[in-house]
Amino acid sequence: MDSAAPGRGCPLSYRYGAAALSRQSSLDVETLWVVGGLYGNPFALERLLALYEREPGPKALVFNGDFHWFDIEKNQFRAIDDAVHGHRATRGNVETELARPAHGAGCGCAYPEWVDEATVLRSNRIIERLGATARAFPQSLERLAALPMHLVATVGGERVAVVHGDADSLAGWGFSQEALATDAGRAAASAAFEGAQARIFASSHSCLPVLQSFAGGRVIANNGAAGMPNFRGTSFGLATRISVAPSGAALYGVAAATLFVEAVPLEYDPAAWARRFVAQWPAGSDAHRSYYERIANGPRYGMHQAVRPEAALAA
Ligand SMILES: [Fe+2]
Repeated sequence: MDSAAPGRGCPLSYRYGAAALSRQSSLDVETLWVVGGLYGNPFALERLLALYEREPGPKALVFNGDFHWFDIEKNQFRAIDDAVHGHRATRGNVETELARPAHGAGCGCAYPEWVDEATVLRSNRIIERLGATARAFPQSLERLAALPMHLVATVGGERVAVVHGDADSLAGWGFSQEALATDAGRAAASAAFEGAQARIFASSHSCLPVLQSFAGGRVIANNGAAGMPNFRGTSFGLATRISVAPSGAALYGVAAATLFVEAVPLEYDPAAWARRFVAQWPAGSDAHRSYYERIANGPRYGMHQAVRPEAALAA
């Protein structure tokens, strides 16, 4: 663990480096769904599974972390956990801090400076509260601890590196929309493709979606959140779909060589989700103060901001 305050730092065990992703793939499919940030939303999960069920051909569904977060009610926690483990899954910082809490890591979010201190403190308390629920399920904790931090898939012959944060760390913010808005951030991300020998990175963690193209038909697809709205005035989550064929349901998408990389909306019942959320996190609670406004109205972010065409890298 570095010397940062809880919720700000990145435990050393979170770090792997892009070269760790250059290994052989463990999946070979024509369609891959990558779903980060479900955050314990059972309605988004139900919608996701219905959409995925309709996919033809060889396929896989990967939950790339933070599938738990708001689900402090025990039956809810167990239902989410069991459903996720019916598919492929990798650990997010939430699952890692539930299963193997690192001393002083807090939520393990490694929040950057643009996230305010009160939010960080509330997240640290949310993981403590969720941990109290999770400890009722020791077998689930063992199962979460055994999940990998990342996964490499082959989709239509192309390598896809599935991470939670970025190419270097479980809780890295290098694939956030904020980092990818800077020349330095895009240059660092571009270099990571070489290290991982990947055409596509699929990530999540930073909680806002971005679909960033790079030279040579390479793409970073960050789905934002599957279990919360991602754009102002909307009420659906997002999943990443990578396939040899386009989806009829995509909100937006780009090409990566011969593949289609798309954001698919998860249109759950927003009123039902708001009720379920408030039943666990009433007004005044930490999660309500941090997230209710977003759950009700969406973040201050627009769809036009998410799709980023290839930009020349600064020399
Ligand atoms: Fe995360």
